[in-house]
Amino acid sequence: MIGIICAMKIEADAIRASLLDTTTETVSGVEFTRGTLHGKEVVIAVCGIGKVFAAICTEAMILKYAPALIINSGVAGTLTDALSIGDIAIAKTLVQHDMDTSPLGDPVGLISGINKIHFEADEKAVAAFEAAVSEIGANGVVGTIASGDQFMSDTEKKCIIRDRFNAIACEMEGAAIAHVAYVNNVPFAVLRAISDSASGDAQMEYPKFVAMASERSHKIIDTFIKLW
Ligand code: ADE
Repeated sequence: MIGIICAMKIEADAIRASLLDTTTETVSGVEFTRGTLHGKEVVIAVCGIGKVFAAICTEAMILKYAPALIINSGVAGTLTDALSIGDIAIAKTLVQHDMDTSPLGDPVGLISGINKIHFEADEKAVAAFEAAVSEIGANGVVGTIASGDQFMSDTEKKCIIRDRFNAIACEMEGAAIAHVAYVNNVPFAVLRAISDSASGDAQMEYPKFVAMASERSHKIIDTFIKLW
């Protein structure tokens, strides 16, 4: 069983529509649709925006469906010149950029208790994402994706996060999904299509490009499942 989590309906609809033999149930307020895609068992959910919704969904998915791999797909803002709108960010690691106990002497991003800043994505899934990206002829970059409970639309803040974590893209769920998967020993991977610049123009770019970027991520997820 492969679990797929998207934050928004627009990111999940096309994937969900391509599942066969579906059944649906609601757990912890999240609707899970189970079915098959290219002959593989898949469960998909729309978790809602932000780290807490993402964590609720991931824990519920693990307890109910015991997926062998959890994938998070959707859209993101770019933090690097190497990724433009429509390009693909593949997480090698994920960080929570808004986790901050630095007044107590910790580095920003450190998650106390497990003593980690970076969550490492499943290597085999990262390689399969790279293969899927090249199969559809997209431009993809593998690196660190930074998650936090903020829509980034400020160049100064964007540069701080980019420089602090050497991050390539920002979004609002991936590292929370990674955190929950990590503590449950479940492999995970995150793929995001770029919808905006995460700078001063992001609030204009995002509504213009979110549908196109969601379609790009859907295409790659579909190819990934075929290859997996
Ligand atoms: N998801 C897509 N664009 C984003 C941005 N600029 N900030 C946070 N999450 C995003």
